[in-house]
Amino acid sequence: MVRVRQIMKDEGEFLDAAKVSDLEKGAMRSVELKGIYVLIANVDGRFCALDDRCGHMNALLSMGTLNGKIVTCPFHYAQFDVTTGQKVKDPVTESFKGMDKLPEEMQKFLIFAKKLVDPVKTYDMQTHEVRVEGNKILVRI
Ligand code: FES
Repeated sequence: MVRVRQIMKDEGEFLDAAKVSDLEKGAMRSVELKGIYVLIANVDGRFCALDDRCGHMNALLSMGTLNGKIVTCPFHYAQFDVTTGQKVKDPVTESFKGMDKLPEEMQKFLIFAKKLVDPVKTYDMQTHEVRVEGNKILVRI
C-alpha cells in the first residue's frame, strides 16, 4: 500500500494532546500536533488517535460523525475504524435522487465533479499510539 507519510511504531515522541475530562465517551476532537491534524476519539473509554485528514480527499474527519468506533467523513461519507485506521466503507459518489430537477448547469457541474472524484483511491488512515497519564491524553507523533 502506498502512503504519503509512514510512521513506524516506537518512532516519535508522546505529546500532550487533550484532557480526558474534555472528551466524554462517543466524543471526538481535532488537535494540531507538530503541524499534523490528529483526530482523538473516545470509544467507550478507550482513546484512539488517527490523522484527521480523510484517506479519500483530505476532508477533516472530525467534522463528520462518530458512531461507536466508526467515523464517517462529512464529504463523501467514507467510513473508517478509529481503533485501527482501516477503511470500512468506500465514499459515496453516485448521483443523488432529485439531481435531474436541478438547473442544467448545476447538473453538468456535478457530473464533471463525479468524473474527477470517482477514480480517487481511498486509503486506510494512519493511527497514532495513545497513552493516558492522569487527566492527560498523550499522542505519539
Ligand atoms: S473526502 Fe472523505 S469521503 Fe471523500
